[in-house]
Amino acid sequence: AEPLGVGLVGCGTVGTGVARLLLEQPDRLARRAGRPLDLCRVAVRHPEKPREVALPPGVVTADPAAVIADPRVDVVVELIGGTTVARRVVLDALAAGKHVVTANKALLAEAGGEVFEAARAAGRTVCFEAAVAGGVPIIRALGESLAANQVTAIQGILNGTSNFILTSMAERGMSYPAALAEAQRLGYAEADPTLDVDGSDAAHKLAVLAQIAFGVSARPEQIERRGIDTLDAQDIRFAGELGYTIKLLAEAWTGESTTGGREVALHVAPVLLRRTDLLAQVRGAFNAISVHGDVVGETLYQGPGAGMMPTASSVVADLIDLAVGRAQATFAAARLWSREGKGFVVEPV
Ligand code: NDP
Ligand code: HSE
Repeated sequence: AEPLGVGLVGCGTVGTGVARLLLEQPDRLARRAGRPLDLCRVAVRHPEKPREVALPPGVVTADPAAVIADPRVDVVVELIGGTTVARRVVLDALAAGKHVVTANKALLAEAGGEVFEAARAAGRTVCFEAAVAGGVPIIRALGESLAANQVTAIQGILNGTSNFILTSMAERGMSYPAALAEAQRLGYAEADPTLDVDGSDAAHKLAVLAQIAFGVSARPEQIERRGIDTLDAQDIRFAGELGYTIKLLAEAWTGESTTGGREVALHVAPVLLRRTDLLAQVRGAFNAISVHGDVVGETLYQGPGAGMMPTASSVVADLIDLAVGRAQATFAAARLWSREGKGFVVEPV
């Protein structure tokens, strides 16, 4: 069968994991996808830099436009992060008739409306399972598996770096700077780790989940947020002594609005949880999300929320869905992404 041509833009932590999976397990992936997933081109900022993965000769370029323009490339995988170059790459790829896979929650939270409008106009698909909770398939769970429900509440640990820092401080007595440096070394943190520790990254992910679950187009700056950078070591110690654990929680609650419709409240903050609470037991860079649906009741999703191979697992699952032709249906919910944003009114999705 015709291969699916893959062009990677960005080969850092996540891109390396994706390249490794594609290059090291081609036969298994081809069986799953019904056709080979061919890594054709890779764009990075510093082409001369030694890589942890042996890329085939001639695939590396410093120019993302060369990846997009390559006629063998069917899907552009955006893994550079940020919202400026990444936005251009995604929009240009769609305009050139390529599908897009991205792990970039900042981009989707800031410019999801524009991105999905461009995808609609081009008749192409944007897949983003890796953008929320790394290796945990929460996008498919919300967008697909819970489709029979009206979601009423979401509560989650959505930032692996913050959770890693909190766990390392509480259980290993590490200092905040040492724990943050360790999270960076392990590839969990954003290029600018302020986004992790000030609650912005969790707010970006909450905005993406709120879009899928409630049809709410919340701008990230509209989400009330506090991060773990407001805590000190004493807060963590006192919480432990009293039988509590501090977690950075992202929460969405729906309720009746003053006009009789339904509205959603979104916020991110460090909270005290009883040590016996399920979310209190989520450790290290793991994430967990509890979703309440009116039909199913409460469901819980948990797993590695950051890091090379867990995130690659979600990116490559998107590639397989595209290869099989399943992705259009899977991301039906995302197609409702509205450019204008309708405040916090819950839309019928
Ligand atoms: P890294 O900083 O490790 O990698 C970024 C890559 O992009 C590098 O290869 C870099 O090149 C390349 N790059 C940067 N700017 C350009 C440019 N202008 N042109 C071409 N290439 C460029 O990031 P991560 O892999 O950690 O993250 C990538 C994305 O995935 C981000 O959106 C992040 O939020 C998201 N994500 C990350 C997770 C994680 O655990 N790390 C988990 C889930 C999502 P060079 O190598 O030469 O410097
Ligand atoms: N920096 C992010 C985190 C990566 O720590 O959760 C996963 O999105």
